Amino acid sequence: MKANIAILPGDGIGPEVIAAAVDVLADVARRHGHEFAFAEHAIGGIAIDTHGEPLPAATLAACKAADAVLLGAVGGPKWSDPKAPVRPEQGLLALRAGLGVYANLRPVSVHPRLAGLSPLKNEKLAGVDVLFVRELTGGAYFGAKTRSADTATDETRYTVAEIERVARRAFELARGRRRHVTSVDKANVMETSRLWRETITRIASDYPDVQLEHQLVDSMAMLLLTRPASYDVVVTENLFGDILTDEAAALAGSLGLLPSASLGEGRVGLYEPIHGSAPDIAGQGLANPLGAILSAALLLRHSLHLDAEAAAVEAAVESALASGELTRDLGGKAGTSDLAGSVRAALAAQRREAA
Ligand code: NAD
Ligand code: IPM
Ligand code: MN
Repeated sequence: MKANIAILPGDGIGPEVIAAAVDVLADVARRHGHEFAFAEHAIGGIAIDTHGEPLPAATLAACKAADAVLLGAVGGPKWSDPKAPVRPEQGLLALRAGLGVYANLRPVSVHPRLAGLSPLKNEKLAGVDVLFVRELTGGAYFGAKTRSADTATDETRYTVAEIERVARRAFELARGRRRHVTSVDKANVMETSRLWRETITRIASDYPDVQLEHQLVDSMAMLLLTRPASYDVVVTENLFGDILTDEAAALAGSLGLLPSASLGEGRVGLYEPIHGSAPDIAGQGLANPLGAILSAALLLRHSLHLDAEAAAVEAAVESALASGELTRDLGGKAGTSDLAGSVRAALAAQRREAA
């Protein structure tokens, strides 16, 4: 098949991990007879520097016209002055809103070789396989903001329609898994959470084959550490999902491992690792590229419907994790290109076996 993939490397380690993921996608295209065209566009801090804005109109237009978008990360100390008139992160939020990708899928599992990296006891980690469905285009991120000399506000706002569509996504996804949904809110305090709980409960009646459980976000933060293996699909609002998924990365062993897919009703999906620009290691070739490579696998599956190719990339990552040299965040000494190289070698070996 032919596909146009918009590439948004962004800032910090973004370009380093995206280069690795593009190499893997190019390998997939060569080996499976596809034609992928990659076109790079500016977003984030680099776009502020070169275009004066974090999401240039040309970048958004190119993303809307593409078949899928692969993004690295945005932000960094250079653009983090609290008084700065514009921030890299605004570009990412505008892209998510512009593409209408309201459901952010963040799968978390634990590779046996990495269980020792988690601060949790190994026996708690067996069988961990959680799919977070984070609402991505509403809530506190997109409500009105005000600021005066001594007061600031961020409005948290949700409509029934916004909650319904992400709830349906979560229930549909649960049907392809263990048929269990945990909805996370703060309904004991927040009005938006009461609307959230009421709406999720109503939508659940359309999915009688899926079991629904509600948890408050504070206790969920604890339960994720005390019984992580008991969760299947976890659906929650934008801000809670942001926080809980970084927490869940500690189960997997490193933030650098986790991918995401952001989907809406539109045809274009956005794929990005959940980590940021990691200023502390940027430019040194040390970043773990697996979150970006696994995001490319999600792109193959959800946007290009190339299930076998997606599974091949995931299997190659699995075997690189099982026997390859690991990056520093995973307790090894390898660099970004070494780890990406072992994924590519595993991919090549698979094809030879299959041939
Ligand atoms: P971060 O995710 O960039 O880094 C947190 C820690 O995890 C750091 O110690 C970093 O070295 C490590 N880490 C992250 N990714 C890694 C990888 N692939 N390999 C190895 N180690 C990795 O979070 P932060 O430091 O809080 O934020 C830095 C900047 O990134 C901020 O400007 C923030 O807004 C931005 N950010 C962007 C995104 C995004 O673009 N999607 C996501 C999160 C944070
Ligand atoms: C993420 C990031 C972003 C978010 C920031 C950079 C806007 O933390 O993708 O998890 O909070 O959504
Ligand atoms: Mn985050």
